[in-house]
Formats: sequence, structure tokens, C-alpha cells
Amino acid sequence: MGNKLLGWVDDRFPLMKMWNEHLAEYYTPKNFNFWYFFGSLALLVLVIQIVSGIFLTMHYKPDGELAFASVEYIMRDVPYGWLIRYIHSTGATAFFIVVYLHMFRGLMYGSYKKPRELIWLFGMFIYLALMAEAFMGYLLPWGQMSYWGAQVIISLFSAIPVIGDDLTLWIRGDFVISDATLNRFFALHVIALPFVIVFLVVAHILALHEVGSNNPDGVEIKKNKDSNGIPLDGIPFHPYYTVKDIVGVVVFLFFFSVVMFYFPDGGGYFLEHANFIASDPLKTPEHIAPVWYFTPFYAILRAVPDKLMGVGAMGAAIVVLFFLPWIDRCKVKSIRYRSGIYKINLVVFAVTFVVLGWLAMQPVTDTITNLSRLFTFLYFAFFGVLFVTSKNENTKPVPDRVTS
Ligand code: HEM
Repeated sequence: MGNKLLGWVDDRFPLMKMWNEHLAEYYTPKNFNFWYFFGSLALLVLVIQIVSGIFLTMHYKPDGELAFASVEYIMRDVPYGWLIRYIHSTGATAFFIVVYLHMFRGLMYGSYKKPRELIWLFGMFIYLALMAEAFMGYLLPWGQMSYWGAQVIISLFSAIPVIGDDLTLWIRGDFVISDATLNRFFALHVIALPFVIVFLVVAHILALHEVGSNNPDGVEIKKNKDSNGIPLDGIPFHPYYTVKDIVGVVVFLFFFSVVMFYFPDGGGYFLEHANFIASDPLKTPEHIAPVWYFTPFYAILRAVPDKLMGVGAMGAAIVVLFFLPWIDRCKVKSIRYRSGIYKINLVVFAVTFVVLGWLAMQPVTDTITNLSRLFTFLYFAFFGVLFVTSKNENTKPVPDRVTS
């Protein structure tokens, strides 16, 4: 019966063809390690966010008069509403942790290099869309941080010469953050951006499956094939990695549940304390800081005294990542076979990113500002050093086949 039904569908739709192309006959390097869990985890979190988001939308009211109260209603009166909300808010933090680790894996193993430049570019567009998605989602609870965070970030556009003020007005839909802003952010958050993200993720994975996955050795497995044209170091994604990824999923869900049940506000880092107070356009909170995943870029913004230059530096910090495949000119992909300079450079970059994130959460003092400037310099220095040193890098010989 089952086979008959499958045959019937297959005559009309390329189901088995797609299954084979992307799972059962997609040959994946056999040496994937811990770092390769985060792609499938990012997919999992995307699904978690979409499903929990749909249920939140059933009870949330995108109205300046009702929004804050509707979130409280979800938390107190809707059966398991608190669970749905905490799944979604923990999911936002989890998304960025997973994506940052996923990107760092790309840096370590040179996964952005030829022929995977497009996978990286699609990834960067996903990252941009994800930041927009998170920013707009944060306005919806309509608390003090929602309101004032959006106020600070949207007003940055006014730094743009000539069109700045009009542009800011156009984005807000009003002279201040208001019901009009809340309504459009809601539309973008629940419909437009999820569509964009899902579309980009599909493109990301199609591009990956076109060229094949990289691996911790940075060896192209397609170069060594058996007489049937199957890579000697490849194993079918299904069942090998579908099963292996379940281990990642279980461990991930363990940590996810711990945060969700016991630590949902993350001590004020995942849900800021000021956001438990309804928004008040007449009362500015003492410290306005974005949620943790934006803070490295916020530190760069604060480090530069001039508003326009600050916005420019913050934008440049993101834009420069798009060009990584061309900034890194070394032919060797994996960190395992790269020079000491590269390793040090990458470690300094990772530490810099975390320190910048911490700095932006501190109240502004002279020391904090000076440190922010130093670490902003170090952030950009990573790309400069990489560009200069990668051309004739002192690399180790890369093996022909994967090593483990
Ligand atoms: C919603 C967010 C994302 C999802 C669902 C996603 C999904 C995936 C999946 C399933 C893979 C294959 C499995 C793996 O290699 O881990 C992958 C690979 C990859 N992703 Fe992403 N990704 C996302 C965001 C990003 C971002 C932001 C970047 C970088 C800017 C990125 C860069 C890459 C690269 C370079 C690869 C190839 C890795 C390799 O073959 O070594 N991804 N992604």
C-alpha cells in the first residue's frame, strides 16, 4: 500500500528524487565534528520560532493601547501561554548563539572560500534578516526597553545626510514611536521577514548541496571518488548524519529547557528588566542597551564620537563580513593547516567580539569608551591583518584525504 502510494505521488511529483538528492544520496564528509551540529540546530530553532510565533499571534494584540496588556494576558491567563512566550523569547537568544557558533565554524574551517562563497553570502543575508526580525520582534511587548531601544536605533537613520530626517519619519510612520510603528513592525515580524528568512535558508542549503559540504580538514571530498562516482570520504547524509544530529538536538533541547523553565529572563540579558514595565514615552530608562546579541555592534557605534561616523562604523562592521571570501586570500581552508598568525588573529577576533558585547552593556564612562575604541580597532584589525598575511601565508601541507 505504502509503496503504491509513494509510486503514485512520485509519478506526479519528484519526491524520491528530492529525498535522494538532498538526504539519502547526498554524500557528506565523514569527519564532521561538534561544530557541524549548528546548521541543523539553526534549522530546528527556525521551526521552533515559527511554530511558537504562530501561537503567540493568536493572543497578541498589535495595538499601542493593548499590546503590553495582551502579553501579560498571555503570561497569566492563556493556558500554557507563559510556556509559549518563553519558548519564543528563549528561542531568540538560542538562535543567535547557534548562528554565531555556526559562523565561527565557517571562519575556522574556511567554509566561505571558493567554491562556497555564495553559501556564505546567503548566510550573511540570513544574518541581516535575522537581526531585523529580532529587532522588530523586541518592539512588540511594548515595554520600556522595546520602546526606547527602538527609539534609539530608528533615530540613527536621521544621521544620514539630506534624507535622514524624512527617512526616520517614514520608518516610524509618526513623529515618535507609536501605534503606527508597532503595527508595521508586527506585519514585518510575523509575515514579511519570516518569508525572507525561509527563502534565504532554502537558497543557502541549495547552494551548499550544489558544491558539497566542507569539513574540519578543509579537503574537497569530491576530488577522490570510487568507480561509481561516490566520494571515498563521503557517507550518505541519511541515515548517518540525520541520526548523529539527533544527539545535537537532544543536548541542545536540554540546555534550552533549563533556560526556558528556570532562567527565562537570563538575569536581564535575554529579557531586560525594564521591559517588564509598560512603555512610557515621557520616561526614558536610565540605561538603554540592546539585547546581548546586538551589543558588539552597539559598542562600535558608541565608540565613535560623531553620530554619522558611528553609524558608518557600525554598518561597516557588518558589511565587511560579506567580503570575507575575498579578504582571506589563503588557499588553505582549515585552521588545522594554517599559520600561527591566522590562529592568533582569529582568537583575538573572537575575544574582541565578546568583549565588545560586554562593553556595550556597561554605563558609559571614560574607561569604557576608551576600551570600546581599542576593541573597535581590534575588530577591524582582524580583517586588515587577514588580508595582508593571507596572501603568502606559511601554511602546513594539506592531506589528500580527510584525517579522521
Ligand atoms: C537561519 C539561519 C541558518 C540556517 C538554518 C543555516 C543552515 C545551514 C545548514 C543546515 C548547513 C549545513 C550543515 C552544516 O554545515 O552545519 C549550513 C552550512 C553553512 N552555513 Fe548556514 N545556516 C544559517 C545561517 C548562516 C549564517 C548566518 C552563515 C554565515 C554568514 C552561514 C554560513 C554557512 C556556511 C559557510 C556553511 C557551509 C559549511 C561547511 O560546509 O563547512 N549560515 N547552514
